Amino acid sequence: MLFKSLVTSALALTAFQAASVSGATANVTAPINVTGNAFFNSETGERFYIRGVDYQPGGSSNLTDPLGDTSICGRDIPVFKNLGINTVRVYTVDNSLDHSECMKMLQDAGIYLILDVNTPGSSISRINPSCSYNAAYLQNVFATIDAFAEYDNVLGFFAGNEVINTSNTTNTATYVKAVVRDMKKYIKARKYRSIPVGYSAADIASNRQLAAQYFNCGDDADARIDMFGVNDYSWCGQSSFQTSGYAEKVQIYSGYSVPIFLSEFGCNEIKSGTSRPFTEIQAIYSSRMSSVFSGGLVYEYSNETNNYGLVEITGSDSVKLLQDYDNLKSQYSSVSNPANDGGYSTTNNYSTCPDFQKNVWEANNTLPEMPSAASAYFTSGAGTPLGTILSTQNDCHNDAEDLDASSSESASSSTSESSSSSSSSSSSSSSSSSSSSTSSSSQSSSASSSSSSSSRSSSSSKGYANTIQVPFFIQMLAQVWTLLL
Ligand SMILES: *[C@@H]1O[C@H](CO)[C@@H](O)[C@H](O)[C@H]1NC(C)=O
Ligand SMILES: *[C@@H]1O[C@H](CO)[C@@H](O)[C@H](O)[C@H]1NC(C)=O
Ligand SMILES: *[C@@H]1O[C@H](CO)[C@@H](O)[C@H](O)[C@H]1NC(C)=O
Ligand SMILES: *[C@@H]1O[C@H](CO)[C@@H](O)[C@H](O)[C@H]1NC(C)=O
Ligand SMILES: *[C@@H]1O[C@H](CO)[C@@H](O)[C@H](O)[C@H]1NC(C)=O
Ligand SMILES: *[C@@H]1O[C@H](CO)[C@@H](O)[C@H](O)[C@H]1NC(C)=O
Ligand SMILES: *[C@@H]1O[C@H](CO)[C@@H](O)[C@H](O)[C@H]1NC(C)=O
Ligand SMILES: *[C@@H]1O[C@H](CO)[C@@H](O)[C@H](O)[C@H]1NC(C)=O
Repeated sequence: MLFKSLVTSALALTAFQAASVSGATANVTAPINVTGNAFFNSETGERFYIRGVDYQPGGSSNLTDPLGDTSICGRDIPVFKNLGINTVRVYTVDNSLDHSECMKMLQDAGIYLILDVNTPGSSISRINPSCSYNAAYLQNVFATIDAFAEYDNVLGFFAGNEVINTSNTTNTATYVKAVVRDMKKYIKARKYRSIPVGYSAADIASNRQLAAQYFNCGDDADARIDMFGVNDYSWCGQSSFQTSGYAEKVQIYSGYSVPIFLSEFGCNEIKSGTSRPFTEIQAIYSSRMSSVFSGGLVYEYSNETNNYGLVEITGSDSVKLLQDYDNLKSQYSSVSNPANDGGYSTTNNYSTCPDFQKNVWEANNTLPEMPSAASAYFTSGAGTPLGTILSTQNDCHNDAEDLDASSSESASSSTSESSSSSSSSSSSSSSSSSSSSTSSSSQSSSASSSSSSSSRSSSSSKGYANTIQVPFFIQMLAQVWTLLL
């Protein structure tokens, strides 16, 4: 049988073991800094390798925020701790909820958070990226930053996930990079800690290198990412450093000037018996990779329809540990981090911008200016967080109207505040999304862009999304929204 016996949170707590073979003496709650192409604990100065898991119970198009509900995070954090991880990545949160308790529990467990700032309805659209880059969208992104910036254990933010997901969606990179720039400027303007901002890329042979270069190129330091995540499913079963293509990836990315890590890994196409052996852990935390890579996150914590789970969620306070969980735990505990600094580099320069190439690389090296209505957030904050129900992808023509919107209590500036204008645009977008097929497909495009995971197919290669499930699911969601409104 695959399953171990039922494990409740309480049991997992008593089963708690030392979190990790590495860094036992490190103050794991101190902020993580980026120096050169590596992460460091800002208090101990020790190099930090991500040992993580992607975390979105219900699938990432399910708008349940696991960090806004202690009955969810409280069930799972002891399981993380028992697994021996130091980081989780969450794809979608509800920025209107209180996250202090879950963040404290993570911090007490020595676990950092990498957070995607998008929601299915509020993200850069592949169908019309220019339109989806608007002030209402940025308000939502900035409000998410406001909600999390105070926590020392936020390792970084992802401005986007797999927005480029084919060879012909490279034009979207222009807008994602503009969001990176705006987020970095916002973090500075609001005087938050300099939390790293990155992008999480799909592994697409025709543009993987171009994307890495593009996001880390150009003279404007604010527009360059601070970290690069690659979703890479190339190591399947009992593979090897050479066979998997990992060796080639190390070559491709060597000389990159900011940290790179595997933001999703864990191919499920070839199993040993019925489970994943996770032998790649031996390579990822070895000196063969540590000069370029800084660890990674296994896809994914809970077993969803695409069959990548480490645990099966069996109830509001219980999970079953699957064989994958045991295998991963055993791999993690058998591997320590490379000695000393792992051979990281501080001398690499940022990348040269790739030229525009029709049908190959269609991103623009001149970024669009930030929508003017968003600049008020820099002086007054983003204002009221509007949560996951917000739908901003079709708000491109509303930026001028935002200028006329009456300001709310949190914005003294006369130029703009989002709550009134954005919530009205949110309802108009939601209703249009259920009535027209065009916008319902743009909904689905955003769902995958904020979250590839729910559409991850067990039979697809390199983890590319299955095309059938998400659009249907999102159409259902859109109908639910319409009923609610
Ligand atoms: C660990 O780091 C946190 C955050 O910087 C700090 O508040 C705390 O005092 C440190 N704890 C120890 C034991 O050094
Ligand atoms: C980490 O970054 C902060 C803010 O940029 C800086 O003040 C601090 O000195 C850095 N710590 C280390 C160990 O580099
Ligand atoms: C979302 O996930 C939660 C937690 O797993 C579950 O209770 C809920 O039913 C899911 N909602 C939908 C719409 O699937
Ligand atoms: C990309 O190509 C696919 C298949 O060739 C096509 O179905 C899709 O519409 C194209 N997408 C865009 C954004 O051009
Ligand atoms: C994970 O969920 C899928 C879809 O429900 C199911 O087919 C599969 O058996 C589950 N895997 C395990 C190990 O329970
Ligand atoms: C980095 O590269 C840019 C252009 O690609 C160049 O202008 C700059 O001088 C380089 N900086 C260093 C420190 O080599
Ligand atoms: C890039 O953007 C600039 C400024 O918006 C524009 O003038 C130029 O035509 C764009 N280039 C391409 C290839 O689209
Ligand atoms: C890319 O995202 C779209 C949604 O916009 C989805 O329909 C498609 O299946 C994805 N393609 C791949 C190869 O993941």
